[in-house]
Amino acid sequence: MQQIKQVSLGFLGCGNIGGGVFRLLRDMHDELLARDHIDIVIRKILVKDIEEALEINARKGLDVPRELLTENASDVTQDSEIQIVCEFMGGEQPAARMMEAALNASKHVVTANKVALALNWAQLQAAAERSGVGLWYEASVGGVIPIIRVLSVNLESDRIDRIYGIINGTTNYILTRMTQEGKDYGEILADAQKLGLAEPNPEADVEGMDAAYKLSILASLAFHGRVTYGNIYREGITGIQAEDIAFGREMGYTLKLLGIAKRQGNVVETRVHPTFLPASHPLARVDGSLNAIFVHGAFCQDMMLQGRGAGDLPTASAICGDIVEAALTGPRYPTFENTPEPCPDFTFTDNWLTRAYIRLSAVDAPGVLARVSECFGAESVSIASMLQKEGTVNGRVPLIFITHPAREQAIRRAAARLDPSICTLEQMIRVEE
Ligand SMILES: NC(=O)c1ccc[n+]([C@@H]2O[C@H](COP(=O)([O-])OP(=O)(O)OC[C@H]3O[C@@H](n4cnc5c(N)ncnc54)[C@H](OP(=O)(O)O)[C@@H]3O)[C@@H](O)[C@H]2O)c1
Repeated sequence: MQQIKQVSLGFLGCGNIGGGVFRLLRDMHDELLARDHIDIVIRKILVKDIEEALEINARKGLDVPRELLTENASDVTQDSEIQIVCEFMGGEQPAARMMEAALNASKHVVTANKVALALNWAQLQAAAERSGVGLWYEASVGGVIPIIRVLSVNLESDRIDRIYGIINGTTNYILTRMTQEGKDYGEILADAQKLGLAEPNPEADVEGMDAAYKLSILASLAFHGRVTYGNIYREGITGIQAEDIAFGREMGYTLKLLGIAKRQGNVVETRVHPTFLPASHPLARVDGSLNAIFVHGAFCQDMMLQGRGAGDLPTASAICGDIVEAALTGPRYPTFENTPEPCPDFTFTDNWLTRAYIRLSAVDAPGVLARVSECFGAESVSIASMLQKEGTVNGRVPLIFITHPAREQAIRRAAARLDPSICTLEQMIRVEE
């Protein structure tokens, strides 16, 4: 009979996700014992305030015993019986410092924290390698979607050249409802906040920071070189108007906040911004708070993974996969030199090739269209399709068009050429195929 392996865990934080992991491990304990021969036991849980934690857990129906709780981080990171430290506090600090202390004390670390990881990955990785232990972070991107494992194990022998990700559930929820209901951003955001689908301070989600942290992790793994948070161009969804979504739909496109990473040779582009995709694109049909990641590689070609990017139990499922892997196999490190600086072999470009949706507010007079075409033509940006709406507001009409592929900077220069006395740029949204 196979010997049972004892596995002791320590938790740093026990909120939404920590509670989900506690629940999953309680419900799955006997199955994991029977099929994987591991007896997973939670030994200590760091909380801010023991009395408050007991009260919150009781309300959630979680029977966390008082003797597991501590307010002292070193009871978790330095306990000689604990083999795996699971970090569920969120935020950069003190989470990163505590994870580093645990790694220095030769404990495997499992985290769902993209902020602490994206900003401190090199230091954490170095600490893990020095101690010969592992750093696992499957749940840091895309919740339950196993994209970290797919990029670093399954596609290790491929050459990935493109990733498109819907990697923020809050913004996908807001854009989906704006699309389906034709309502404005502010109204849907307020509703999402009421439903608990957006934070009271939604900035990290709606301004694209959350997606940018995640994209820096995905792009680094996919391109085998460090892509830092600072390398990601970022635009959020706060400037999106319901009418742009509607005009885009009329032209056959669906709006998503995408994390985009492309590599051609050593030229790398990484960007997070609202993006129109053809309505037939598989990502265009990923609605609500779902996440999905579309990958293209030289050999695998197109593939897409979709699933719950958030939620206590789906995220717990990904985290517990990491815990089991940490318990049963040795550490797996990224293939590249993990420095705090961007990979020196990469040239990061902000002059990517893209199509653009442009909405102008134009004077309703003969000759205006020709002058607009001239401005874009002067920068070799040609117009692929156009939508002109009747009905003037203050003597102006909306003029909407989509360009052929052109360089980002050329499109910006063309827009800067427009004469404000005849038309103004109201919106520019990039279009991908
Ligand atoms: N929620 C999701 O669906 C989801 C999905 C994927 C990944 N994640 C990641 O998972 C992590 C946890 O998210 P969550 O939703 O569980 O957040 P959460 O509900 O706010 O839980 C975090 C818990 O950690 C506690 N905490 C914070 N700092 C602490 C400290 N210094 N000492 C002790 N306890 C501390 C918090 O206490 P207070 O509340 O008193 O501050 C809270 O109980 C984050 O990194 C998040 O990005 C979340």
